[in-house]
Amino acid sequence: MRWPYAFAQDGDVALSRGSWLRSAAEPYASLAEAELADRLISRVSTSPPVPSQQVSASTALLEVDRVSIDYVTGARVLRATHQVSLQVHAAERFVLLGASGCGKSTLLKAMAGFVPVSEGAIRLGGAQVQGPGPDRVMVFQEFDQLPPWKTVRENVMFPLLASRRTGKAEARERADLYLEKVGLSRFADVHPHQLSGGMKQRVAIARALAMHPKVLLMDEPFAALDALTRRRMQEELLALWEELRFTLVFVTHSIEEALVVGSRVAILSPHPGRLRAEINTHAFGLASGGSAEFEAAHQRIHRLLFDEERAGAQTAGDTSSSAATGLRRVA
Ligand SMILES: Nc1ncnc2c1ncn2[C@@H]1O[C@H](COP(=O)(O)OP(=O)(O)OP(=O)(O)O)[C@@H](O)[C@H]1O
Ligand SMILES: [Mg+2]
Repeated sequence: MRWPYAFAQDGDVALSRGSWLRSAAEPYASLAEAELADRLISRVSTSPPVPSQQVSASTALLEVDRVSIDYVTGARVLRATHQVSLQVHAAERFVLLGASGCGKSTLLKAMAGFVPVSEGAIRLGGAQVQGPGPDRVMVFQEFDQLPPWKTVRENVMFPLLASRRTGKAEARERADLYLEKVGLSRFADVHPHQLSGGMKQRVAIARALAMHPKVLLMDEPFAALDALTRRRMQEELLALWEELRFTLVFVTHSIEEALVVGSRVAILSPHPGRLRAEINTHAFGLASGGSAEFEAAHQRIHRLLFDEERAGAQTAGDTSSSAATGLRRVA
């Protein structure tokens, strides 16, 4: 991903990517490192000041308003997301659930400001998202999201320094604090190749939380882990949320993970990605697995995802249980 232009936070001067790098307080060791800085977080805000008439009166922290996203490859246009509207409130654990190719990652990247929308708008705190910014941080699925030449502590400090959010001393303090929160204090001085997959994902979570983002965006962060580690990571994420109450947008294609991690789940259908339904899942937690309510919600979501006609009949004829689980059929 290339971000040729950034706008300086103080001064609104457009800088080429090269001059942006040259102006960095801490020179990057390599192009890979510079690209990582771009991918993780923009060192400077790329959002020009938003005119006051664009500020929405919505109470949602993050608002996706009739957003369509097209990928243009040569003469071919692929619509990944079609007129999706979502509202994410502060301290909510919002899950995007859907089959492969339904546009979950695309939508998340648009929230992060990495992918432009073709129509509609995404607003954060009422201001239109027009590019990446340190108020949104992403955690990816891949274990290689940590530069291997940096220690664990340096990895957590890196976006804080690159975004100039803090000086070195505070970055180190925050790194140590969040490494402690994810149980990795003892590993602060090792390099990523000395960690397991689960530990690497913990470092990525610590790195994201240390930024104190307005929204934490996670794209299938536990999908590449074995079942036991995945479960442990879900527990740890929920424990962190209990403590810190951050706003989370979490992508998964696992119904069970959506029910456990989310307080609200948006179900997307593919080709192109549309919002099919939203379901309140705050009643479910780690201990809910196997309960009748959990199984009923699981089955209902399964039908919505894989058997749309039957799901339509079920939802239309089952208003009482729809109300019980807060199911809102959208499309
Ligand atoms: N950079 C791109 N260029 C062109 N098409 C793309 C690009 N990225 C994604 N797509 C297409 O957009 C659609 C949505 O892709 P996306 O990666 O958002 O799906 P997803 O729901 O995250 O899938 P998965 O669960 O497999 O990760 C797919 O049809 C995909 O082929
Ligand atoms: Mg994806």
